[in-house]
Amino acid sequence: MRRLIIAGNWKMNKTVSEARELATALKLELKDITDLDMVICPPFTDLDSVSQIIGDTNIALGAQNMYWKLEGAFTGEISPMMLRDLGVRFVIVGHSERRQYFGETNQIVNKRLKAALKYGFNPIFCIGENLKEREENKTFEILTDHLENGLKDLNELDLPRIIIAYEPVWAIGTGRTATPEMAEEAHHFIRKKLTEIFSKDLADGMRIQYGGSVKPQNAKELLMQPDIDGALVGGASLEARDFIKIIKIGREILNK
Ligand code: 13P
Repeated sequence: MRRLIIAGNWKMNKTVSEARELATALKLELKDITDLDMVICPPFTDLDSVSQIIGDTNIALGAQNMYWKLEGAFTGEISPMMLRDLGVRFVIVGHSERRQYFGETNQIVNKRLKAALKYGFNPIFCIGENLKEREENKTFEILTDHLENGLKDLNELDLPRIIIAYEPVWAIGTGRTATPEMAEEAHHFIRKKLTEIFSKDLADGMRIQYGGSVKPQNAKELLMQPDIDGALVGGASLEARDFIKIIKIGREILNK
């Protein structure tokens, strides 16, 4: 049985005071929930304040990126130790916005992933095709490329700590969600691919989140799908009310 995991990716949103307000609202409603995993991923500048607010709750803290070296002359980067020191447990790796706007390749993503595992984090490893690739029927090809190269040379013992996030780029921030059937088809393919690369046992245990315009209105149908084990929520995680609703929907369908 895979445990449901719902994460909020705040992206480049929320000043410290706004982040405090949102984290406090989430804490009030969610602090005692234990039957699923909840993660919030604020920008680096908010991590310290948010950590102090949610530190004694079941809401885990995640970062949106991480460099692979421990320290040194890497202007503008953030190291694993800096994040660990703040109580960060999850790290988003290879988000499509990093790939698209900041030139991240599978090789870079693979380095981040290995470092995240080495230093004890749970990476949320994002993969997914863009609109052109989907229209050219290349979805499975892209997913294969992201999986095979992103997960290259990993220690199999570390795999259960990785959460895969399938995020079709054309559904991110566009209000255009993949239908539950389309999402399930991709998730099923991903699990099949993981079986080929590793083993059925490992693939069956790994959690695959869906991301791309997840809202309270569509969360139930998506989360009900057999291979969808959670959601990576962008825009709707910026409003306490919406994120709380999505978590509550997740709890309602735990025995799907
Ligand atoms: P939206 O929910 O805003 O589409 O963002 C999805 C996403 O990219 C989460 O990482």
